[in-house]
Amino acid sequence: MLKEVIATRYITPLREGGSLPGLVEADDFGTYVMKFTGAGQGRRTLVAEVVSGELARRLGLRVPRLVTVALDPVLGLGEPDQEVQELLRSSGGANLGMDFLSGALGYDPLAFEVSPAEAGRVVWFDALVNNVDRSWRNPNLLMWQGELWLIDHGATLIWHHNWPGAEASAHRPYDASDHALARFVPDVAAAAAALAPRVTEELLTEVTAEIPDAWLTGEPGFDTPDDLRRAHVRALLARAADVHERLTGIEETT
Ligand SMILES: Nc1ncnc2c1ncn2[C@@H]1O[C@H](COP(=O)(O)OP(=O)(O)OP(=O)(O)O)[C@@H](O)[C@H]1O
Ligand SMILES: [Mg+2]
Repeated sequence: MLKEVIATRYITPLREGGSLPGLVEADDFGTYVMKFTGAGQGRRTLVAEVVSGELARRLGLRVPRLVTVALDPVLGLGEPDQEVQELLRSSGGANLGMDFLSGALGYDPLAFEVSPAEAGRVVWFDALVNNVDRSWRNPNLLMWQGELWLIDHGATLIWHHNWPGAEASAHRPYDASDHALARFVPDVAAAAAALAPRVTEELLTEVTAEIPDAWLTGEPGFDTPDDLRRAHVRALLARAADVHERLTGIEETT
């Protein structure tokens, strides 16, 4: 399970985020970007953040540390903004927190060049988790201390919105033509050779164990949180071996 902290102060909303993420301070004196269970996108978005974020980290990609943030809705009472107040009020219990990278800049492909090797690893990973939110318009990449960091994996694992169709969807192609790093001739073949063998059942079981039970209960067709964890493992395992063969929209490296 992810480390759990308790929110002590709501600092400010991050206005750029569509889901109204906020900055909070916690009882460990850390500052976190918080994503709320009460946000419109719901718990599946948070599950996707944990599964994809923790998988990326284990594959050697940089992702800020994730925690769960326990929230007492009382914290919202003093908020002047009605929308924020309602969000806090409807998000009691475990929410998602991510280490706030103070001073990070939004990634700009025109300002920072990425090597074909690193671009390949990111594009291959995004194909694996079917990330539709890493376009040049909205890269969800940060530059911090001179390095590239991956954030915002809420729009990954689209198959978990429709479990009966998950098996078929896991074999679908991935179009990377709009990907933020597509222009850097990503070496996807090298990334696949290095990373796909590491995506094992064991690794995925470890990753899905990080998801809080509270976000996995009540899913139609699944009796227990562990059943739902195993479905995530199966879907990613089915995709890992050959997703690079179904990746379109980027220049081939030879
Ligand atoms: N860990 C972090 N450290 C610093 N800034 C961050 C961090 N996470 C997010 N941000 C900032 O907050 C913005 C919104 O975060 P994020 O993209 O995760 O939210 P979202 O609501 O899912 O956004 P979207 O509009 O892409 O759907 C980011 O674009 C970035 O500028
Ligand atoms: Mg975003």
